[in-house]
Amino acid sequence: MTPTKPGPDAGPTVALDPSPDAIRAMAAEVIDWVAGYHESIRERAVFPRTSAQALQERLGEPLPQDGRDFASLLDTFRDVVVANARHNAHPRSLGYVSSPGTAVAALADLLASVLNANLTAWRSGPGPAQLERVTIDWVRQAVGCPEGTDGVFVSGGSMANLAGLAAARARRCGPAVNAEGLSAQHRPLRVYVSEEGHHSVDKAAALLGIGHANVRRVAVDARFRMDVADLERRIAADRDAGAEPFCVVASAGTVVTGAVDPLADVAAVARREGLAMHVDACYGGFARLAPSARRLFDGIEDADSVALDPHKWLYLPVDCGCILYRDPGAARAAFALGADYTRVLETAPGEAFAFWDYSPELSRRFRALKVWMALAHVGARAYGEAIESNLDCAVHLGGLVEESEDLELLAPVGLSIVCFRYLPAGFRGRGARTAEEEAQLDSINERVLVALQRDGGSYLSNATVHGRFGLRACILNYRTMRDDMRRLLDDVRRAAVEGGA
Ligand SMILES: Cc1ncc(COP(=O)(O)O)c(C=O)c1O
Repeated sequence: MTPTKPGPDAGPTVALDPSPDAIRAMAAEVIDWVAGYHESIRERAVFPRTSAQALQERLGEPLPQDGRDFASLLDTFRDVVVANARHNAHPRSLGYVSSPGTAVAALADLLASVLNANLTAWRSGPGPAQLERVTIDWVRQAVGCPEGTDGVFVSGGSMANLAGLAAARARRCGPAVNAEGLSAQHRPLRVYVSEEGHHSVDKAAALLGIGHANVRRVAVDARFRMDVADLERRIAADRDAGAEPFCVVASAGTVVTGAVDPLADVAAVARREGLAMHVDACYGGFARLAPSARRLFDGIEDADSVALDPHKWLYLPVDCGCILYRDPGAARAAFALGADYTRVLETAPGEAFAFWDYSPELSRRFRALKVWMALAHVGARAYGEAIESNLDCAVHLGGLVEESEDLELLAPVGLSIVCFRYLPAGFRGRGARTAEEEAQLDSINERVLVALQRDGGSYLSNATVHGRFGLRACILNYRTMRDDMRRLLDDVRRAAVEGGA
């Protein structure tokens, strides 16, 4: 399969347009690797022992002028790239609220790339576009938003939060904000999110000209949920000071401790005060499929917009976020802009549908295919069971931590997130600690985390909880079992010894 040079009439090079047999041969090798990767995932180290310099030495080279054989590229992929990857599919890759991926969704991604539909509007691919609209409606049903809600898949949760806030801003300010920016707005707009809300809300506020300083951080209760009385106080104080409260962002699963804000109470305040309500359900939203968590999401049906990440708890490979709007007209007010090259000539509503009216993106890959294939192949019930099992593992881990004298829980278990720390001898079984002891524990746990990550048996990340350095486990993997929780703690204890704790 070495690429050959084109002759005068040979058309594109063989490398750009391989023969069907060459495609079959390459794909067979790729698919064989895919199957083997899934088979071997438990045996791999979660994190590689390497350095940027070592990798650069193996990968760095000048821009190739002549092509090379696909088999040699696959060798580099296997021997250098995969051998030095962090394996998010490993059952003890627990550092982040990120997904393991699934084989079916990965194959769907391959199919989407082959079809290469660019979903800008219905006309850019009637079949793919309709499939996205159907799948968006499945997502709506999964999270419990009312009929009539519409939306699109976007690159991820940060983009979804940006889109939700843009729609809220357009609703408040009207079309003038698109034409003149916020200069037409005399009073500063204020947005409210809990102290635990994700930083993509601040980023969105900055990009929308609202500004970080106008993101009000609302206090949280002992379970890290938004304190609704504090929300009301802040709205009143801002009004008195001449500012214009316009949107509250509730978190349905905070990134550090997994807290779900009291959505129905937040919705009631938003309604009473005339604020838009956006829910950041990027991490937690799909936990509504698990029967034991369902009630936590009561009130989400009142949200004006909901941001979700199928590339988190639907276990799908990146990238895939999703934004839902209860009033799709508000999104159009934010994003619809006429240009000759985007003029829609179709008139029937379904066929005149343009995805570019619902987010900042124009060219969009066919993300819906993997969501549709995964939901249709697995089914909502089995998804609910897998998520339920993740929730169970988190409770189990929390219990193991609580019954161990060398470990301490730093926050109540929230959805599938557990924050804890290691206590070396001399720090166990005691009451209040001095500030100096707390600082010692912070630095000991930092060393434990570094040693754990280097060890490769399990992977956690860091979390600051009440100002203290903690180890954070996020369980979003259908492969993770109760026994992995025991093995994780064994790995933490070994890392404590290696880290000199
Ligand atoms: C609660 C929450 N919101 C938003 C985001 C941003 O999502 P993304 O990384 O897909 O942009 C994250 C990411 O972890 C998150 O946990």
